[in-house]
Amino acid sequence: MTQLPFPDMMTPHGLMPSDPVLTAPSRQVLKWIGNKHKVAAAIAASFPTDFRRYYEPFIGSAAVLGTLAPRDAVASDVLAPLVAIWQRVQADPQAVYAAYEARFQAFTTQDRKVVYRAILDRYNATGDPDDLLFVARTCYGGVIRFDRKGTMNTPCGVHAALPLKKFAEALAQWQPRLAGTRFVVGDFETQIDDAGPGDLVYCDPPYQDCGKNLYGAQTFSLQRLFAAIDRARGRGVRVALSLDGSKRSGDRLCNVLIPQGLFAQDREVKLGRSMLRRFQMAGQTLESEQVADRLLTTW
Ligand SMILES: C[S@@+](CC[C@H](N)C(=O)[O-])C[C@H]1O[C@@H](n2cnc3c(N)ncnc32)[C@H](O)[C@@H]1O
Repeated sequence: MTQLPFPDMMTPHGLMPSDPVLTAPSRQVLKWIGNKHKVAAAIAASFPTDFRRYYEPFIGSAAVLGTLAPRDAVASDVLAPLVAIWQRVQADPQAVYAAYEARFQAFTTQDRKVVYRAILDRYNATGDPDDLLFVARTCYGGVIRFDRKGTMNTPCGVHAALPLKKFAEALAQWQPRLAGTRFVVGDFETQIDDAGPGDLVYCDPPYQDCGKNLYGAQTFSLQRLFAAIDRARGRGVRVALSLDGSKRSGDRLCNVLIPQGLFAQDREVKLGRSMLRRFQMAGQTLESEQVADRLLTTW
């Protein structure tokens, strides 16, 4: 295994939330459907700077957390192997690199579909976070899709896996940004209920009506989320919610009814093309598929 220099990785710093420039890492550790990497800086810039603890209860690939790099944060997700990926990136990036390298070598020197299938099968049998990371990086369209039994079933993608040097750069960029964060497995409701006065919560829930089989997200309900946000607001917590208000599911628009008075502001954040749509359309023209995210805030 190559021993990699990870400059200043062992020095936890965390940027101050009030730092004037919030820049997203240029490389991503994890490829995740519905990620906010392109708009993370815009979202983070709209946050107040005087919050106490930061909560992100739908962490996915952690785009906004990685941009904000908060000093004190709790990040969570219901998918345990995903949370384990982040715990490992934080605690032992060398081991994450070594695991990626082993899978990368097999994937690039042997029959890629056979190697992918073996890694996917092992992930489904054991929930190994290193397998999930590699599958997420190499699966078709980057779509993490599960069947009813919770088995991930996306086929092998057509693109090359991220080269080792770039993956090492991603780890080196991310590890210090996670220094102030505790990663936990759990349903969003428990985490939001944990936030107290002065805390900030950012929610990026699964797309409504747009594939309930994504991420194995069957336990999600927008009404339950609205209720949790309402309770948090009552305790003096500020909450921001990303909603895909203009996104399509097949030919239907995913419209959602937002409880009156829950949010103070509704902003539009440009998102670019929809990854999910790209998967469904398989190579057709995408000119009409520009989507905009909404960011609803309680302040
Ligand atoms: C749209 S993704 C978040 C993307 C993230 N903002 C990013 O930049 O990659 C939604 C996430 O919510 C998680 N999730 C689904 N149901 C959940 C629940 N009930 N509680 C907590 N997380 C859940 C999924 O596993 C998925 O990672």
